[in-house]
Amino acid sequence: MELKIIRSETKKEKPTGKLGFGKYFTDHMFIMEYDGTKWTNARIQPFQNLSLSPASSVLHYAQGVFEGAKAYKNKKGEIRMFRLNDNLDRMNDSAARLCMPTFDKKFVYDAIKQLVLIDEDWIPTEDGTALYIRPTMIATEPALGVHASKTYLMYVIVGPAGAYYANGLAPVKLLVEEHYTRAAKGGTGGHKVIGNYAASMKAGEEARAKGYDQAMWLDAKYHRYVEEVGAMNIFFVMDGIVYTPALRGSILPGITRRSVIALLRSHGYKVRECNVDIRKVADAAEKGTLQEIFGTGTAAVISPVGAFGYRGKEYVVNGGEMGDISKKIYDELTGIQSGRYEDKFGWVDIIK
Ligand code: PLP
Ligand code: COI
Repeated sequence: MELKIIRSETKKEKPTGKLGFGKYFTDHMFIMEYDGTKWTNARIQPFQNLSLSPASSVLHYAQGVFEGAKAYKNKKGEIRMFRLNDNLDRMNDSAARLCMPTFDKKFVYDAIKQLVLIDEDWIPTEDGTALYIRPTMIATEPALGVHASKTYLMYVIVGPAGAYYANGLAPVKLLVEEHYTRAAKGGTGGHKVIGNYAASMKAGEEARAKGYDQAMWLDAKYHRYVEEVGAMNIFFVMDGIVYTPALRGSILPGITRRSVIALLRSHGYKVRECNVDIRKVADAAEKGTLQEIFGTGTAAVISPVGAFGYRGKEYVVNGGEMGDISKKIYDELTGIQSGRYEDKFGWVDIIK
């Protein structure tokens, strides 16, 4: 398929000041259509609104998936794409889970690369910033029966982004959620599908109303084993060993999670992917053997957890400060992304 490029005749004003997350979008977007048999009409075009039938199935039954990746520009002017192939693989897995068509990864990768290069002057260069890349696929058939749509749109929007949490690297507070669940065995928790996020909002709002930043999810059956956080996977350091919940289908297989495990192991840390019992974490906090908790995600990168609430009690982690392992891993991961450190795992594609 050919990729058509239609350049915008106008340029939007770029943001000045704090970028925040997900608020600004560049001048162009990538889009292509699935006509029932094949992807067609692929183009980079000016960023614009979509025109959809109000009966489109994504709007009724949430047949939609998305991804989040980042491109970095460093002081040398290099543009560095971090593990985009892994995001596109996961997107195809998510699409297949929702009976949506998959796409040619190489074609979409190249299209994103071109999009990023066209809007290159939007990529921020300050520490902690990047161009956030949001590939999205939605079902567009105007039909109200509950069945897989015949037609789809796939598009990619990009925009400059800073810290995901308002306070940047300041430790966040999480509330362990024992009532609502995010995902259960056999559900869609292990895929990046839009409905997962709608279902998670109530717990997030209730946590915020109680003074926490996000909910920490437990397993759906026992409400005892930690799963993940709103937009992050989660790690616990107890007695010198790093624990993270094993992927058993209800947790999103985070690309940052995978990267952090590889980095930690390369430094000789013991990393265990297993059940993480929240009662044991609370006990460790009381005994003083809980050293650190941190979240990992593309948007949040590494987010230290300074405290968690569980059964009416608040447990402070590492005196409410970012721990040494979190700091080291943040420095190393962002160093690889920006080119300060050698990319020894081959995660970065320098596209310019
Ligand atoms: N868990 C959820 C629910 C997420 O939305 C994300 C963000 O994408 C993650 C975990 C972290 O995944 P990744 O590291 O691939 O960004
Ligand atoms: C990301 O980390 O890229 C995400 O997509 C998280 C998000 C839901 C904001």
